[in-house]
Amino acid sequence: MTIFEALRLSHDIQRELSEQLVATSGDSLERKELFAQLKHELAVHSVAEERHFYIPLMQEDLGVDLSRHAIAEHHEMDEMVEALEETDPSSPSWLVQAKKLSHKVHHHLKEEEHKFFQMAGKLLTDKQKEALAKDYLDAYAAMKTAEAEA
Ligand SMILES: [Fe+2]
Ligand SMILES: [Fe+2]
Repeated sequence: MTIFEALRLSHDIQRELSEQLVATSGDSLERKELFAQLKHELAVHSVAEERHFYIPLMQEDLGVDLSRHAIAEHHEMDEMVEALEETDPSSPSWLVQAKKLSHKVHHHLKEEEHKFFQMAGKLLTDKQKEALAKDYLDAYAAMKTAEAEA
C-alpha cells in the first residue's frame, strides 16, 4: 500500500461522517455521537498525516508550499470544530456551521487527493511511499487505541 491509499482510507471515513452529521437534527444523541466521531477522526488524521506525509514532504523544496497550505487548512478545520462545540446543537446556527465544516472537509480532501497527491507522487520515491503508509497507519491505529482506552 502507498501513503496515498492509506490516507484515502481515512478520507473516506471523514466524508461519510460529515455527510451523516449534516443529516442529523436537533439536540439528538445521534448528532452528539457523530460530531464526537468526526472530531476525533479529523484530529487523529491531521496529526498522523502531518507527521508522516507533510513533514517528510517539506524536506523537498517543491513540497513546502503545498504542505503549509494543507497544514493551515487543518488549523481552520480545528477552529471550525471548536466553534461548533461552543454552539447549542438545537440552534439553527449549529447546522449552518456543521454544513460549512462538511464543505471545508470535502474541499480539503479533494484538494489533497486531486492536487497534492499528484505533486507528492513526483517528489517521493516508491520506497518512501510504502514506508510512510506503514508509519501513517501505525500512528493512526495507536491514536485510535489510546482514545478507545481513555
Ligand atoms: Fe489533510
Ligand atoms: Fe488528509
